[in-house]
Amino acid sequence: MLQLIRGFKDILPGEVELWQHIEDRARALFADFGYREIRVPLLEKTELFARGIGEDTDIVEKEMYTFADRKGEMITLRPEATASIVRAYIQHRYHAVDPVQKFFTIGPMFRRERPQKGRYRQFYQINAEALGIAEPLIDVQLIHLLVRLLQRLRVDDATPHINSLGCPVCRPAFREALLSFIAGRREALCSDCQRRSTRNPMRVLDCKVPGCREAMAEAPAIIDHLCPDCAAHFAVVREKLERLGIAYHLDKRLVRGLDYYTRTTFEIHTAALGAQSAVAGGGRYDGLIELLGGPPTPGVGFAVGFDRLAEIVALQQADFSRPAQLFIAALGPTAQASAFDWQIALGEAGFQVEMDYADHSLKAQMKRADRLRARRVLIVGDNELQTGEAMLRDMATREQTPVALDRLVDTLRQSLANS
Ligand code: HAM
Repeated sequence: MLQLIRGFKDILPGEVELWQHIEDRARALFADFGYREIRVPLLEKTELFARGIGEDTDIVEKEMYTFADRKGEMITLRPEATASIVRAYIQHRYHAVDPVQKFFTIGPMFRRERPQKGRYRQFYQINAEALGIAEPLIDVQLIHLLVRLLQRLRVDDATPHINSLGCPVCRPAFREALLSFIAGRREALCSDCQRRSTRNPMRVLDCKVPGCREAMAEAPAIIDHLCPDCAAHFAVVREKLERLGIAYHLDKRLVRGLDYYTRTTFEIHTAALGAQSAVAGGGRYDGLIELLGGPPTPGVGFAVGFDRLAEIVALQQADFSRPAQLFIAALGPTAQASAFDWQIALGEAGFQVEMDYADHSLKAQMKRADRLRARRVLIVGDNELQTGEAMLRDMATREQTPVALDRLVDTLRQSLANS
């Protein structure tokens, strides 16, 4: 039997309703705060991600689905959305019209990581990006949005971990401090880190290999090396978070897995996922727009791991599927034909109506109505057609009320409104 590709998954009916519920909440929140939807392609030139995310990152080195198209051009299934959104911002010259743009996008990303619970090769993200705003207030707005979204979905242990990664002004001195710290411990590092450490020592701080973590436990932290501007920026972020009553954890070790970050960075971990995996991550990327060919423009954003969020929300609320509003149990071909017409008319009037398309027994049809969790059942046979009246059964109370078949829409509306 043909099966799906390892690390990929189907999102089945029943589960999809949960995903829609989360998506609805996210869309409502973004609308309230002026974030507009943008949809960018799944495929982009490989160079966009290699340059944007950074050649030395795990994502670019090991995890991208990259291939030559038929003309030999190297293209990549997007491993994240930020680089693509920035590309679109530059390409459509938003910076020339109104540099301040707030976007969101929801969709699949692809990374060839080792699959495990909560880690997939096709996964989904909810992204928000604010471009053109240098002030720390927007960092706080984004963290607030993220925390609110999780609260509205009743994820209650969503404490953001925050850090500042500085800027090109404070990095060189920190880099020197880090390089000299690493110099005494090179032997303890994994081969990836040994290779990357001279070119990009910050990556060593992000390595998940236990030996590297241990060796780097006492490493200098960039937050102790911030330039005055970065320190002031971060102080405002912290102060405003406190003013908003958003509890956070200052995590000096937080570095993130993508190279574009500057200044404020954050992640949200929840107990439901275990220590290693974050449900969301983000931060500032003030150099990215320029790096990708645009004018110097600041940016900040986040991505929520949709799959992980859905797993957490599902723990609290199991069933999001919508019950049918009416099941028409039709007995005999004439009643079947009428039921079919009613189903169409009621569907047009906005009711979700189900029927049995084959001529099964009443018992079998009632079983199906139960399975669909139908709120009402209308039982119709030749008799009912003749008298023009049938019984509408409330499946919760088992009460039956006679209804005139030519007044089905009104009666059903009233009946459903009453319970
Ligand atoms: P990221 O930390 O690589 O950041 O991913 C964000 C979130 O996506 C993670 O916290 C996690 O929940 C989810 N995620 C990542 N990889 C997987 C996977 N293999 N399976 C399931 N979920 C996964 C970014 O992607 C940045 N673009 C976020 C950002 C936006 N920064 C600024 N703007």
